[in-house]
Amino acid sequence: MRVGFIGTGSMGSILIEAFIRSGALNPEQIIATNRTLTKVERLAQSYPGLQAAPSNKQTAAESDLLFLCVKPMEFKAVIDEIESVVSSQQTVVSITSPVMIRHLEELLPCKIAKIIPSITNYVLSGATLCIYGDRMLPEDEDLLENLLSHISAPIRVSEQYTRISSDLSSCGPAFLAFFVEKFVEAAVQTTGISEAEATQLASEMTLGTGKLLTTGGFSPAELQKRVAVPGGITAEALLIMEKELCGVFYDLIRTTHAKYEEDVEKVEARLFRTKVD
Ligand SMILES: NC(=O)c1ccc[n+]([C@@H]2O[C@H](COP(=O)([O-])OP(=O)(O)OC[C@H]3O[C@@H](n4cnc5c(N)ncnc54)[C@H](OP(=O)(O)O)[C@@H]3O)[C@@H](O)[C@H]2O)c1
Repeated sequence: MRVGFIGTGSMGSILIEAFIRSGALNPEQIIATNRTLTKVERLAQSYPGLQAAPSNKQTAAESDLLFLCVKPMEFKAVIDEIESVVSSQQTVVSITSPVMIRHLEELLPCKIAKIIPSITNYVLSGATLCIYGDRMLPEDEDLLENLLSHISAPIRVSEQYTRISSDLSSCGPAFLAFFVEKFVEAAVQTTGISEAEATQLASEMTLGTGKLLTTGGFSPAELQKRVAVPGGITAEALLIMEKELCGVFYDLIRTTHAKYEEDVEKVEARLFRTKVD
């Protein structure tokens, strides 16, 4: 199987590197391109055998499975270039939430999937969300999920829940990192502990908590209950978080969803704008 990547920026290169490091793909199976070619040429130097292609068209023509790793507003240009060379046997995978599967199906004759990766896939961890178009056969879905399982936990979601699922799995690392940063900042300023030590402690704690919530068999509520004995120090502190933080998540979700709706509209307008303008 030949796997193509159009766009080797942050997420495209994370996916390529994770697939190679996990053993899911050999560099020889990968063909990739990027608007600024030096970026993909650097990847080809790091992973001998990986083919840096000079154009989107060549990458699309030579791939069985093609990942589109460009930003939403860049999809139109890429689709215009590749539409004449993709066929019904190929699968095109978008990695961005505001590009709708039905729109890609309207514009391209191939099988369409959407996956939402996460920066956590860089360390072969976290989820990838999988959403499938009607042309995908069960064996196409299995093949894609088998590939993704080397770098993540593939989780099927309905397109209706793409945004909220992405908030949790894909934006989540930034939100959690913000929490850690602010916790460390307060620890340093209040007590004088060194930033390095506080960061190490908070990061190890984050890793361990993730394990408890995934393989450790704890739900978030059970974990809090186990740590926060009634009348103890953690319980007192949790009351503050309960009072100060709960509303934040509603605001956060309102904000991500409003921006998403805006992006969906802009992308749709860009994709279906007549070629006259
Ligand atoms: N970052 C994340 O954590 C994350 C997580 C999940 C999903 N995503 C999705 O992944 C997508 C890409 O995000 P990113 O963070 O990787 O952005 P990025 O770093 O800006 O990468 C986009 C890449 O696409 C290239 N590109 C743009 N137009 C192109 C074209 N017409 N032909 C070929 N290559 C083209 C750009 O090339 P240049 O070098 O010329 O600019 C750039 O290298 C976004 O839609 C985002 O929503 C990101």
